[in-house]
Formats: sequence, structure tokens, C-alpha cells
Amino acid sequence: MLSVILPTFNEAKNIATMVSRVQNSLEGVDHEIIIVDDNSPDHTWKVAQDLAHGRDNLHIIRRIDKRGLSSAVIDGFLAAKGDVLLVMDADGQHDSSLLLQLYRAVEEGAGIAIGSRYIEGGSVGQWDERRYALSQLATKLAISLCKVKVVDPMSGFFAISRDVFEKALPKLNPKGFKILLDFLVHVPKSTTVKEIPLQFGERMAGESKLSRRVQIEFLEYLYDVTLGVWIPLVFVKYCIVGFLGIGVNLIAYMVIASLFREHASLSVYGFSVAVIGATQTAIVFNFLLNNAWTFARARLRGIAMIIGFLKFEVACAFGAIANFAVSSYLFSIGWTELLCVIIGAMVGVVWNYTMNRLLTWRHV
Ligand code: GDD
Ligand code: MN
Repeated sequence: MLSVILPTFNEAKNIATMVSRVQNSLEGVDHEIIIVDDNSPDHTWKVAQDLAHGRDNLHIIRRIDKRGLSSAVIDGFLAAKGDVLLVMDADGQHDSSLLLQLYRAVEEGAGIAIGSRYIEGGSVGQWDERRYALSQLATKLAISLCKVKVVDPMSGFFAISRDVFEKALPKLNPKGFKILLDFLVHVPKSTTVKEIPLQFGERMAGESKLSRRVQIEFLEYLYDVTLGVWIPLVFVKYCIVGFLGIGVNLIAYMVIASLFREHASLSVYGFSVAVIGATQTAIVFNFLLNNAWTFARARLRGIAMIIGFLKFEVACAFGAIANFAVSSYLFSIGWTELLCVIIGAMVGVVWNYTMNRLLTWRHV
């Protein structure tokens, strides 16, 4: 049996045509259609639910608190009954006359069959130059960094055997749009992949959801599956914030110290106030940026944000103590000054990163 997943977000005007196209192309073939809608503001889910009346093989999943093409596809596959699982855009861009070919390819032994825009006979249709260039770049990056051996790993039209899907399932990273690439990275090495030429068509109504955010998620994904295996992306972001924090600290120090400077000289009191004020400014800056960016997925708001800030202060204070303890110990046993400072700072960062992950932003 074939399960066709149609992920939708604001496709109310297209969904009825899509369902009838799929059904016409699969006449006489045992199949089901599963629409996975992320509570679209245009009520695609409602249109779909109305279509499902009196049709046993049409199912609707309406997700309330989730967004994203990849995770919608995975949820659709998880609900499916077929031994072959297929996904297709619900906007008419994927040629439904390929449905049978993709299905048969998997039935005949391929682990994955792809509607491929970049092999002989395929095409991308009416894209503007910018979209074409972006797609080419993404495809090249994906192929070289993820070491996949297919021509169009970014296609959104493919079929996969249930068995291969289930083997990859525990390793999937459902961020953004690149669900096929994610499968190609995580399926067993022995999986055979077949590409069938696809002429990518025009969208019927509405517009593409491939936003800037989706593009950034794609770059993050490339990082996650390459360097990220050793150094997690959140840690890199945390270090970038820390680095910017050093700049904020310096500027704040200069501003505050200038308020206490008399005839170019600074009292011990003035110096202390400036150092403490600058450190606190940097801590507030680091906290806000980490909360908004590094740990965006576990972002704290309201009271939780104030409690989080206090934990952050404590973690930073202990980080500073660890930094001091390590650097002064190394210095006392004769290491060079600069090396002691650098190693001390690194210990401090790793320490307060770990504490903040465990205490402040636990749910990332
Ligand atoms: N449930 C759900 N949630 N569906 C979504 C979401 C989402 O957040 N975002 C997009 N979709 C649905 C759309 O409604 C559409 O049916 C399908 O996923 C593809 O989205 P489009 O917005 O039409 O993507 P595109 O045409 O710009 O991108 C095409 O090319 C990409 C690579 O170049 C698609 O084929 C992509 O799958 C492909 O990765
Ligand atoms: Mn589309």
C-alpha cells in the first residue's frame, strides 16, 4: 500500500485539486492520503476535513503548536499505514503522473525514489535567477558537506520504504525543509536510491514558504551534521555572544571610568565602580542575547526570565572563580602569563556554559 503525505501551510485554495489529482493518478492502486496541516490561518485543515467526509482513504492531521515542513512529513509518515511512504508538495508543483513511477521504484527494491529536478530530463521550471542560484548553492553544499551521492538531495518529492524510514527515524533532525537530505544522511549505507526526472511546475495559488528563516535553518543543519558532531552549535553561539560581551565590557568600562576621571587620573574607587559596572553591563548583555538567540528554543519570559537571570549571574560568578583558580594555579607553577590567562578564560567559559545549560536554559 502507498501512503501519500501532503504537508500543507496555507494551501486552502489548492488542496481540493491536489486530492483529486492524486486520486486520479492512483486509480486502481491501494493508497491513502494524509494531509498534515499546521493549523493554517487560511483554514486549510477545515477545507481538508470537509473533503475527508465520505472518503475512507483521506486523513487529516491538524497540528496546533508545531511548525515546519520536515516535522510535518515525519508526523505524516508516523501515522501512515503503507509499506511505501511518499511526500509531495500540496501546491501543484510536483507532477502527479510520477506518483506511480516513484511507488513502483520502491516496490521494486529501491530504498528511496526521488523526483529529481537536476538529472537529464528534469527541470526547475520558471524560477527567477536568485532562487535558481540559491538552490544550486544549497544543493552543492549539501552534496559536498553531507557526502550524499544523489543529484537532487533537496527535492521535496520522494518515496521511501517503511523499513528504511524506520531505520533512519531515531537519528532524524526535523529542522526546516531538508527532509530528504536528512534521510539520505541517516539511512543505512546499503540503501539504494533511484532518481526519476521531474519537471518542477508552477505553484497554483498562494506563495512559497521557503523563508529566510528556513534558509538559516538549512545552514544550521549543515553545521549540525558536520562540525556540530564535535562542537555543538549552541556552544559556538554561546562563545560568539561571550566574545561580543568582551567588547561591551570594554566600552562600558571606558564610559563609566570617564565619569570618575579627574584630570586624567582615576581613583581606586572610580576604577572599582567602573569594573563592576562594566562587568554587570556585559552580563546583562550576554544574558539577553543568549536568551534571544543562543537558547531561542528555550527562551525565558516574564518571571522565569528574572529567575533565569539570577541563575546566570551565579553561574558567571562561579565561572569567574574557576577562571581565577585555574589561571593563578598555572601562574604559580611557572606557566607564561598569557597562557595562564587564556586557559583560565577557557575554563571559565566552559564552566559557565555547562552551568547555564544545566540550570538556566534546561529545556533547549
Ligand atoms: N505542515 C506544514 N508546515 N507544511 C508546510 C510548511 C510547514 O511549516 N511549510 C511549507 N509547507 C508545505 C507547503 O504548504 C507545500 O505544500 C510544501 O510544504 C512545500 O512548500 P513550498 O512553500 O511550496 O516550498 P517551495 O516550492 O518553495 O520549495 C520546494 O523546493 C524545495 C527545494 O528547492 C519544495 O519542493 C520543497 O519541499 C523543497 O525542499
Ligand atoms: Mn512549492
